[in-house]
Amino acid sequence: MYHQAIFDEPNILDLKGRRTIKIPHEDEKFKIDVPAIMRRQTTGIGDREEFSIIRHYVKLSEMNFGADSGFYPLGSCTMKYNPKINDEIASLEGFRMIHPLQSSNEVQGALKLLYELTESLKKITGMDAITLQPLAGASGEFTGLSIVRDYFECTKQIDCRREVVVPDSAHGSNPASSRMAGFDVVQIPSTSDGTVDMQKFKEAVTEKTAAFMITNPNTLGIFEDKIVEMANYAHSRGALLYYDGANLNGIMTKTTPAKMGFDIVHLNLHKTFSTPHGGGGPGAGPVGVVEKLKDFLPYPQVTFDGTKYHCDYIPPKTIGKVASFYGNFGVLVRAWTYIKMMGEDGLRDACDTAVLNSNYMRKKMQEFMPVPGKAIKKHEFVASSMGANMPKAGDIAKHLIDNGVHAPTIYFPLIVPEALMIEPTESATKSEMDLFIETVRQTLKLPHETFEKEPVNLKVTRIDDVDASKNPRPSLRLVREQREPLQQVI
Ligand SMILES: Cc1ncc(COP(=O)(O)O)c(C=O)c1O
Repeated sequence: MYHQAIFDEPNILDLKGRRTIKIPHEDEKFKIDVPAIMRRQTTGIGDREEFSIIRHYVKLSEMNFGADSGFYPLGSCTMKYNPKINDEIASLEGFRMIHPLQSSNEVQGALKLLYELTESLKKITGMDAITLQPLAGASGEFTGLSIVRDYFECTKQIDCRREVVVPDSAHGSNPASSRMAGFDVVQIPSTSDGTVDMQKFKEAVTEKTAAFMITNPNTLGIFEDKIVEMANYAHSRGALLYYDGANLNGIMTKTTPAKMGFDIVHLNLHKTFSTPHGGGGPGAGPVGVVEKLKDFLPYPQVTFDGTKYHCDYIPPKTIGKVASFYGNFGVLVRAWTYIKMMGEDGLRDACDTAVLNSNYMRKKMQEFMPVPGKAIKKHEFVASSMGANMPKAGDIAKHLIDNGVHAPTIYFPLIVPEALMIEPTESATKSEMDLFIETVRQTLKLPHETFEKEPVNLKVTRIDDVDASKNPRPSLRLVREQREPLQQVI
């Protein structure tokens, strides 16, 4: 029987103990003339002694589940194990204590690392130039689409090219980033085999199209085998092709976005390249482009003159900066370490094993629940609990978590009803996958009343989904603002 650690832990601001931080206005010596209403009673970040804070976070970590705790099959997120050597290298004093305003003479090693990472990613994607600056996949998307916008501005076509075409299987960040970059979104349907409907694609891609944006393998884990035909067609209409690289783990070293015909690529280093995946950050989403777009990349770019590394190159038509300095440097160090450690053979092996694991699970799970779309999948697949008398996907997920098995992504992609999106990655062992499969198989046999109160073995029990989405309070500050007058908490 599984039981997660459960502590009755207050939030950090309510921790009991000795205060160790004094706010200047509390001290006569530093008395400053700040109006009472603007004075903080607390720093808002917790001000207890070190051991209380450490114990607090250790307890929180014990009430959590991560890629270090076990199998984590969150589809579309590529939650592979992050080797500890990544952290060791990133913790070396020379990297940890570096300051972005140091002169390039003092940080040649760091610049060399950034340069080498750029070269590796160019090879992996087939692109001609890369920026390491964006902070996550979605940040990379916004960067790439801003490049599309500026390119068409420069070529004086922006007034007629206002549209980005995306398949209905796309991740929500694709249409969102397109809108943020100022485009209208045109959605095209998928066929019953889970790939883009070519007829609808050709109707949608016109002289008004700025870009066609797609991930391949797509979010059903299916390789879009007409991708070259699509790329040629989109190019013949004057559009650019954007590759959402979230699913690169399924094709890495086998082919490249460049070979498929793409002009712009983002990579989620926190997925494929084993760096921490922190819910929108701290991640890294480098963007690669073909030759004709390289003058639009963000600045600064690291260059090498054969003897020395420099970090002051500003591409002539740059879209500007999308993050400060070089982006998330510590994350870039981890990705560099992973790529160096794996080498080309290791990356190929990771891709092979991820795809093999996914198809092993898909084949076994197909015995007791539908897996829509083409049979052979790449690194992930989507099962559906839409069948007769099956529990809802949300109930299956809660039951799994309650039994110590991490749930897959649910209700995405939107085109599959009651979707369970499963991505074992290359890190999963056969026994972990078998345990997952068997737990889902047994879950489907349970009477539906079983699920009504689950989860019961976790700190966070069943939440009110409707209240959570209609009335979200996603930060401690919002929760406290409801409880206390505003001036107490700012
Ligand atoms: C297919 C796809 N595209 C884009 C993104 C956005 O990436 P990020 O979470 O790094 O912003 C995700 C995230 O899971 C994704 O699965």
